[in-house]
Amino acid sequence: MLKDNEIKEKICLALDVENIEKAKKLVEDLAPYVGTFKIGLQLYCAYGNEIIDYIKEKNGNFFLDVKLMDIPNTVKKASESIVKRGANFFNVHALGGIEMMKAAFEGAAEAALKLGKKPPVILAVTMLTSISQDVLDNELKIDKNVSDYAIYLAKLAKKAGLAGVVASPLEVERIKKETGKDFKVLCPGIRPCWASKNDQKRIATPKDTVQKGADYIVLGRAVTSADNPIEAIKKIYDELREI
Ligand code: C5P
Repeated sequence: MLKDNEIKEKICLALDVENIEKAKKLVEDLAPYVGTFKIGLQLYCAYGNEIIDYIKEKNGNFFLDVKLMDIPNTVKKASESIVKRGANFFNVHALGGIEMMKAAFEGAAEAALKLGKKPPVILAVTMLTSISQDVLDNELKIDKNVSDYAIYLAKLAKKAGLAGVVASPLEVERIKKETGKDFKVLCPGIRPCWASKNDQKRIATPKDTVQKGADYIVLGRAVTSADNPIEAIKKIYDELREI
């Protein structure tokens, strides 16, 4: 049976809201249940420092979902800044290549060492889920099967020394099998059976996703758009306690 502290560590809540008041209310109400708050570009560009300071005030961890992709030197410097800002997680595109991913790792590790902090968990985005086989074939002209290519990129991220990847719940088992159990997988596209699918297509329930080996699950609208987000997250805890 999963214990509540183990469940909390796995839960990453996506703060995809348009104003700072809503974001702060979610942090305040859900901090006891959430291991990591995910700050995406929408919120970061509008209220980056304010929301980070608020999460820190509530003793929360945060994941800066900024998907870095640039020349290695720029990524290294950006990674240093992200560590100075106190992020516990951040991500980069695996498509930036090994040298770029290594630069992210080195920048983060060096900055963490200087500050005497634990280095953040760096995850790679393999293929964006918005990239279909058709886009890969006909637009990007990459002659590969889309899920095979995602696995290939996950292995590249591992080779570069990154901690893990962001992936669909439908790919977790294969990634774990091909990269090993210590390589972390964070899954978005999570929908309890009582929640709306919204625009997500490749979804799974929290319980199935964790049982398949996901280290972290991203909860978004299933919780943040619920009439009562606290009740919604408590129901997810009930589901995960059954594991
Ligand atoms: O509301 P919902 O549960 O769909 O939110 C999912 C979160 O995970 C969003 O922040 C979205 O940007 C992110 N995400 C995703 N699919 C990916 C990568 C990230 O849904 N492949």
